[in-house]
Amino acid sequence: MAKIITFLCFSVLLLLLSNCGNEATYAEGKTLYDQHCLNCHMEDGKGLGELYPPLAGADMLKASGAGAACWIRNGLKGPIKVNGIEYDNVMTANKHLSAIEITNILNYVNNAWGNKRDFITLDEVMTALEGCEEE
Ligand code: HEC
Repeated sequence: MAKIITFLCFSVLLLLLSNCGNEATYAEGKTLYDQHCLNCHMEDGKGLGELYPPLAGADMLKASGAGAACWIRNGLKGPIKVNGIEYDNVMTANKHLSAIEITNILNYVNNAWGNKRDFITLDEVMTALEGCEEE
């Protein structure tokens, strides 16, 4: 009996800890988003008209997973389509952001404004960053 209770307590603790991790990456991501992304993609993630594509409900973000790390680090330009609408503008690079910071930003944008996605790990982002196309 004692063993079962110990096991249960341990499981609950692990669950709590992992949730704390998720909340931390989301909260940190929001702070970074406000500093580095909000100007263009806006507070509600809806972007701005024909200039800046939305992140809220965006099919391109949803399909990209950890791959979006490359756009955050190196920027993005040229014609793209988001939810059927074409954009052809320039997103600035963020060379100074670390892999951890990029992970946190992705976990925020992937789970804010009604978006939903499993939390991306630092490992996945580091692998994605190694594979980014050189400019
Ligand atoms: C200077 C304005 C600007 C800033 C700042 C900016 N973006 Fe962008 N973002 C753009 C533009 C413009 C595009 C589309 C580029 C194109 O037309 O090829 C884009 C495209 C994207 C896309 C892919 C398209 C989509 O909507 O899913 C993602 C994801 C994205 N940005 C995330 C971010 C994140 C996260 C940050 C903060 C680290 C950020 N952006 C900062 C302007 C910006």
